[in-house]
Amino acid sequence: MFDHTWQRVAIPSASILAGQLLLCCAGDSGGRGVERADVGSVTTDVEGDPGEPDIGTDPVDAPLPTYVAAEHAGPAPPAGELGGPRVDLTADELQRFEAGRALFVYEFSYRTGLGPYWEETSCAACHFAPVLGGAGGGRLLTFGPGEGNDVEHYPLHAAPGFDPLIVPLDASLVRPRPLFGLGLLESVPDELIIAGCDPNDDDGDGVRGRAAMGRVGPTLELFRLGSKANQPSVRSFTGNALISDMGITSVDGDAADAFGSADDDSVADPEVEADVIDLLEAFVVGLAPPPPSGSEPHGEAVFVEVGCAACHRRDPGPQAPGAYTDLCLHDMGDDLANGIRDADAGPRDFRTPPLWGLRHQVLLLHDGSARTPEQAIVRHDGEARSSRQAYEALDLADRDALLAFLDTL
Ligand code: HEC
Ligand code: HEC
Repeated sequence: MFDHTWQRVAIPSASILAGQLLLCCAGDSGGRGVERADVGSVTTDVEGDPGEPDIGTDPVDAPLPTYVAAEHAGPAPPAGELGGPRVDLTADELQRFEAGRALFVYEFSYRTGLGPYWEETSCAACHFAPVLGGAGGGRLLTFGPGEGNDVEHYPLHAAPGFDPLIVPLDASLVRPRPLFGLGLLESVPDELIIAGCDPNDDDGDGVRGRAAMGRVGPTLELFRLGSKANQPSVRSFTGNALISDMGITSVDGDAADAFGSADDDSVADPEVEADVIDLLEAFVVGLAPPPPSGSEPHGEAVFVEVGCAACHRRDPGPQAPGAYTDLCLHDMGDDLANGIRDADAGPRDFRTPPLWGLRHQVLLLHDGSARTPEQAIVRHDGEARSSRQAYEALDLADRDALLAFLDTL
């Protein structure tokens, strides 16, 4: 089995060389040069079993996986299409997008820092459906209420020599979210989001959104990502995904404390340098927004009429047209509540998810408990109760029109 006295491997650090990504070896691996590693295929199981990657059985003296070629990710879809780059990327951004995309499928092993606790070996394992950058098929993660505002994550796997984590009975599930268009959502200015949240219900529609505010070091920032709006940016989400989903430690300048910068495995920390985060971020923020398949003006009018657009705002800002979110937190009632307090969100609060790309998603709602838009709608309560009731009171023709509209997203 796994030998804990195993060599400490060098910190992989990324640099782009002639359009290719080099995970380079420093320190004690010096002189080994660059070699190709088989990064394997993307996990595509959809029923929650991530499968066992071939990791515990590496021979001690096997060469380090030092080189990942972009072709392992397959060619990216064309610009502007689902999973493709945004049409407005510069040549340099496009190159970084491609390099980040290769890192996104890179499978970490125990020798490159995986663990000691981990869910999956690559970003792509949870963000692959229907194309790289999407959601995770049927994959669900387990979270439990922690002390105070600390949400505990219970990864499925523990490295040999580490005890598996005991999942508490009151733990709850969270499903991966698609990453398309996040760069546009990230570029909506804070002031616009804050102005759109209407915490005192000044417009009298019964909906009071809240802008989620959280601390990054000493400063209070607007948080807009995650189903609980628990992260301010793609960059911070990426650092957190590295540590909490894969057990990969990193540092990121001043934000070092926000991520896990040290863990208990035998690989020297940080296990990746900030440039790995740079490239992963370049890929995620470079992903095009999901294009709609057509338009359904009547269905969209019904959507507005029954109050869906009070939260699912077509344009949260001119930077993200057609996202159908206000990026605010809303009290969604007791039925959806998941017992988790995270950053500024209480157990009943969730950030309005963007509806662009809805038709490509297999599981809906934060916990994946809905399979169809209608199943998601009927679970809306709290601030969304009157909107849900207005939906339920629609005649069949208008209801079908609204659902047909959702189906274009
Ligand atoms: C084990 C599964 C898993 C892995 C591996 C994983 N993610 Fe995620 N990802 C999730 C889940 C679950 C969510 C939704 C969390 C939530 O609802 O708050 C998510 C959400 C995100 C979001 C925010 C999306 C939004 O709409 O707010 C970003 C950005 C992200 N992931 C990036 C990454 C990157 C980059 C990697 C690799 C470093 C990665 N993820 C690896 C499961 C995973
Ligand atoms: C008060 C704000 C609010 C209103 C009004 C509202 N929603 Fe939502 N909607 C949300 C929030 C918050 C979620 C996420 C809940 C969760 O993840 O558990 C959500 C989730 C959804 C989802 C699932 C999306 C996903 O990615 O999981 C769909 C579909 C949806 N809403 C459609 C509608 C429709 C259609 C209407 C009008 C009938 C509507 N919503 C009204 C706030 C609202």
